[in-house]
Amino acid sequence: MHQMYNQSTFKEDLVSWFDKNQREMPWRETTNPYYIWLSEVMLQQTQVKTVIDYYHRFIHRFPTVSDLSEAHEDEVLKYWEGLGYYSRARNFHTAIKDIHENYNDRVPDVPEIFGALKGVGPYTQAAVMSIAYDLPLATVDGNVFRVWSRLNNDTRDTKLQTTRKAYESELQPYVQSDAGTFNQAMMELGALICTPKNSLCMFCPVQAHCEAFYNGTVEELPVKSTKIKKKHIKQHVFIIKNTKGEFLIEKRKQKLLNNMWEFPMYEAQSTQDINSTLTTNIEFTSSPVYTLKHQFTHITWDMEVFLATEIIDGSNIRLPEQMTWMHLDDKEAYNFPVSMTKIYKFLAQHT
Ligand code: ADE
Repeated sequence: MHQMYNQSTFKEDLVSWFDKNQREMPWRETTNPYYIWLSEVMLQQTQVKTVIDYYHRFIHRFPTVSDLSEAHEDEVLKYWEGLGYYSRARNFHTAIKDIHENYNDRVPDVPEIFGALKGVGPYTQAAVMSIAYDLPLATVDGNVFRVWSRLNNDTRDTKLQTTRKAYESELQPYVQSDAGTFNQAMMELGALICTPKNSLCMFCPVQAHCEAFYNGTVEELPVKSTKIKKKHIKQHVFIIKNTKGEFLIEKRKQKLLNNMWEFPMYEAQSTQDINSTLTTNIEFTSSPVYTLKHQFTHITWDMEVFLATEIIDGSNIRLPEQMTWMHLDDKEAYNFPVSMTKIYKFLAQHT
């Protein structure tokens, strides 16, 4: 594999481009490790422009490690509602409580200690340690895989752990000083110039260092072994309204989206559950009134929404612990995942 032939001008060219062209982001205006960490957690799987508002709201409500450590999980999730991947928030909350209890509210500046906290993988470890404490760790995320594979015309499979390890060590020479700046410059280049499709090579500050550019292989890199096919699950969602104008909702007790609320939902093959759960017979529309898809990392929900054909008198029904009636105006009191918020919006317009 090629090593970059001119280390110092490569880094200089990249960093001077970054100094002039980086986007403004609120977490680039702070040195607070807790805020920097929060931003990195939110930025995993979510775009910068979406994260900014969530970030402001979150630190306004939980300005310190101590404030967040004392919060109830339901409230933390409320501030995450709509960002998805809620285990990120749960793990972050767990790690912050750990820091409150065991590290005197101070985010550890020892990579091994920080890296052992709940939810902190190699990417988050390198990002926070380098950006907040200028420690010499290289971040390898999707952007860096793309940029570095192209610079070196490297065709190794980026899905393999051995490739990640190799990248981390090849990048070591560049993070011996100003690691945080170098890492963010690599990611910014990947976000703005060295994009997955239609990359802007003509405007690239490190074009002169790029083997893929000279070989005409930019669009073929990085190499990723074929992804595992997502599993499709057909979900039936049941909308039941009572005479007070309230809708039946249920708190999830499952690994995925645990403790979040939903309109009662069952995998398609077990739809008979709805009636036995409620110990009453409710009839539903024979075809769905609304269909939607929701993508998770390894699963896709194909959702069909059915409406009860009549409004029922809820006072006759004894609800199980995990169910309640909710008026549409009270949604803010509950945590709903994105898919259920879409259904909520449908109901607000159509019922
Ligand atoms: N993606 C995730 N974190 C980032 C950062 N700090 N700079 C640029 N892109 C990012």
